[in-house]
Amino acid sequence: MIVLCDGVEIGYDDVGTGMPMAFIHGFPHNRTLWAPQVSALVDRARCIAFDLRGFGESSRNGPFSIDQYADDLAMLLRMLGIERTVVAGLSMGGYVAFAFWRRHREMVRALVLADTRAGIDSEETRAKRVALIELAHERGSGAVADGQIVGMIGKSTREKRPALIDDVHRMMGSASVEGIHGALEAMLGRDDSTPTLATIDVPTLVVVGAEDVLTPVREAEILHDAIRGSRLEVIKHAGHVSNLERPAAFNHVLSEFLAALDYA
Ligand code: MLT
Repeated sequence: MIVLCDGVEIGYDDVGTGMPMAFIHGFPHNRTLWAPQVSALVDRARCIAFDLRGFGESSRNGPFSIDQYADDLAMLLRMLGIERTVVAGLSMGGYVAFAFWRRHREMVRALVLADTRAGIDSEETRAKRVALIELAHERGSGAVADGQIVGMIGKSTREKRPALIDDVHRMMGSASVEGIHGALEAMLGRDDSTPTLATIDVPTLVVVGAEDVLTPVREAEILHDAIRGSRLEVIKHAGHVSNLERPAAFNHVLSEFLAALDYA
């Protein structure tokens, strides 16, 4: 489905019934990233998976910033009549989840922070992002996908489920150059979420693939240590897109977390 939010078309799925749960994808993904979780949860949650502006079916126009992505989600949820939701973000989606918490915390029932980090980029990462913007314009999103796929998927998955490499590459290669450029600028300009961690007072699940090389387990431990009462789950034999690489294991920890919320 597509809805017009303040002049911007936002592509989204709204399926299932129960506790609302909003899913935010990473870079350079789209809402299909969360398909294994949405399909597993439809009987118990109202799942809203949406495309960040510039990706999937959403408009390619800016402004692009992590705060803007968070505001887009807030607007979408209001249009859908959702006042409070569990918010799940993977990697860049986690950066958006932190911004959503800062800007719209009254709408947050709980947080799921998957394969993400709170801190800002190193100088090396900043330089890589600038080079990636150039690459996107010169050689297109396929070349960006070629570069990103290496760190995206864990060693075990590459060995045991090589077909997933093609699936993830296809998803990333379908991103628009405008969306890629916008997201890279958004990540370059993002706030440090480290001071935010101590303010989080909703139930929080931190999940990370044991073989994640982009946002390693250490980053998840930092989140877990700083967010009071949070739960940390490390998914064995999974890399950065742990939710796609080991969907059953990921869904298991997610379902347990959601079940505990029913009583919280
Ligand atoms: C992502 O998967 O969203 C990216 O790895 C995030 C980033 O580049 O910082």
